[in-house]
Amino acid sequence: MKKDILSLLDLEVDDFTYLFQRAIELKKRFKQGIVDRPLIGKSIGLIFDKKSTRTRVSFETAMIQLGGTPIYIRSTDTQISRNEPVEDTARVLSRYIDALVMRTFDHKLVQQFAKASTIPVINALTDYSHPCQILSDIMTIIEFKGSYEGKKIVWIGDGNNVANSWVNAASVLDLNLVIATPEGYGIKEYVKESSNSKRCSRSAKYGDLKSCSKSESTIIFTNDPIEAVKDADVVYTDVWLSMGQEDDFEKRKKAFKGFQVNRELLSKAKADVMVMHCLPAHRGEEISEDVLEAPDAVFWDQAENKCHMHKAILETLILKTGPANVV
Ligand code: CP
Ligand code: NVA
Repeated sequence: MKKDILSLLDLEVDDFTYLFQRAIELKKRFKQGIVDRPLIGKSIGLIFDKKSTRTRVSFETAMIQLGGTPIYIRSTDTQISRNEPVEDTARVLSRYIDALVMRTFDHKLVQQFAKASTIPVINALTDYSHPCQILSDIMTIIEFKGSYEGKKIVWIGDGNNVANSWVNAASVLDLNLVIATPEGYGIKEYVKESSNSKRCSRSAKYGDLKSCSKSESTIIFTNDPIEAVKDADVVYTDVWLSMGQEDDFEKRKKAFKGFQVNRELLSKAKADVMVMHCLPAHRGEEISEDVLEAPDAVFWDQAENKCHMHKAILETLILKTGPANVV
């Protein structure tokens, strides 16, 4: 059976663990000059309805490095733009390619593609979530901090698609997560509910209903950025206005006052705090110039790891090499 990654709620702990280990292994082998070509003869399609630098190029590069071929499919040049039903497009693409990577606005569209496809569909960002980003970000935390376990991870900023994926991840992995957003810009209730019900179904599966009832204790939602970053191991931020959002940005800027990740805010965190940003960054808005340009900044390693994680994802889904839950 094929497996999709539409949200991190699609994965179990074993899947996460396998993908982290495999991505770290593939990175190490790549750095040693070892050539891995398990996907010779395979191809993936990429449909991107929103702009992308990192995700698109790293998925394409990942496929090339593994010996396969990426095919960029411009929606406007296909019959999709002339209203051919999604289901028909998905069924036809399934006859040609081995996986589809898709970035779009409405999350329902990737769900529709996944339902009608016989190949894995991978969400490369929707208005709802950005699962592959958080997979590579946790890989980066493991790389720099040894483990994600026991580390206080603090989100500062908008309760957006990237933040939603952190909340989803925390319903599967034991994360110590704090989400600090301005009032009115928090995580939507439906995201909290679906994540909580995932946690509860996991707890029931493993006969541990207690951890379900105390699930909120590992995810704290707050409007206080200063309290949130206290003793943080990791501070993560993202833009205040995401692609496709049509808010009044001046109003947002006022609401996000105090939510800039800068030296003053970081002075409340642990001395060795690691600052993360999925990029692209807006200097002087959600992050200060000096934090972004710090000599020991990990943003560039974080961006690089997307490629290694995408290799692990493509190999696992196309060749069905992961644990039972992935295949
Ligand atoms: N982080 C990220 O998804 O970047 P792109 O929008 O450039 O793909
Ligand atoms: N939240 C941002 C992430 C970009 C990678 C957006 O959706 O625009």
